[in-house]
Amino acid sequence: MLATVADAALRGRSVLTVVDLSPSEIGTVLGLAGHLKSARAADQLPLLRGKTLGMLFEKPSLRTRVSFEVGMTQLGGHALIAHGSDFMVGSRESPEDAARVLSRYVDAIVVRTHAHEPLRRFATAATVPVINGLSAAAHPCQALADLLTIKDRFDTLAGLRLAYVGDSRNNVAASLAEAALMSGISVTFGCPPTHRPSEAFLTHLQQLGKPHGATVRAFTSAIRAVRDVDVVYTDIWTSMGEEHLAERNAAALLPYRVTAELMATAARHALFMHCLPAHREQEVASEVIDGPQSVVFDQAENRLHVQKALLVALLTDLRGIPTQ
Ligand code: CP
Repeated sequence: MLATVADAALRGRSVLTVVDLSPSEIGTVLGLAGHLKSARAADQLPLLRGKTLGMLFEKPSLRTRVSFEVGMTQLGGHALIAHGSDFMVGSRESPEDAARVLSRYVDAIVVRTHAHEPLRRFATAATVPVINGLSAAAHPCQALADLLTIKDRFDTLAGLRLAYVGDSRNNVAASLAEAALMSGISVTFGCPPTHRPSEAFLTHLQQLGKPHGATVRAFTSAIRAVRDVDVVYTDIWTSMGEEHLAERNAAALLPYRVTAELMATAARHALFMHCLPAHREQEVASEVIDGPQSVVFDQAENRLHVQKALLVALLTDLRGIPTQ
């Protein structure tokens, strides 16, 4: 299906969290991503010819940084990067001033930052689309890539069940749960009370899933969370910038390691997912992440396809571009 007028409403917008997109807009981005993924490179139109993407990274990155840069090149545009020493949201100058300056140079901006609030201020002041490349609160690009990975495998999203095991308060868990529930995937968390999402966030997630018949529950038992699910997901136990909590997290989250035994309690066809980078033998056993149920490198590849789709949706009117 070709893009509709409603799809074109994405143009010029910023995406800081998954809920900045409607369920229908998520479908548009995934559809376009699927099209860009299936098209041979030679067939791809230079949809972003002449466009420049500015990338501002306060924290390290492999997948996010490289996939955005390659994506812009493949679409006929250009990307540049400024690292922490050149750019710190809100420290060398205000987020508003930095956003106003950069909006005079580039057509869209990806920001990877520590705190979410300066990013929000930055995006409010910017006059070009701003994409969250990971903040303390959210990782929407990862969540979109995860949905594409699940859709590629099951050919559908609605009605599936996903378990997130481990630190269920982190940015990856938050964005993944929002994206899943908005797509009709029911979510269970397996985590100790110390790493459980807040009641307010669980209520927010329930509300997202309700119109799509999807539910969310948190269990202290990893086995209970994973029982019969279609997807088992985990992430590193200690997020960037929280290294001082590593020992405490390792002790609390050890019972939530994804092992072959835990995977055996999920559905036989269940996928294992991880956003990477991974710590083998910590949050996941090597035999699981390197085993036949693992789709972690598909997830990493799909970062490229969904981010290309997102950039095209935010920077063009999508006229004549397939979105299904
Ligand atoms: N998953 C992810 O965001 O990877 P990077 O930190 O390498 O960008």
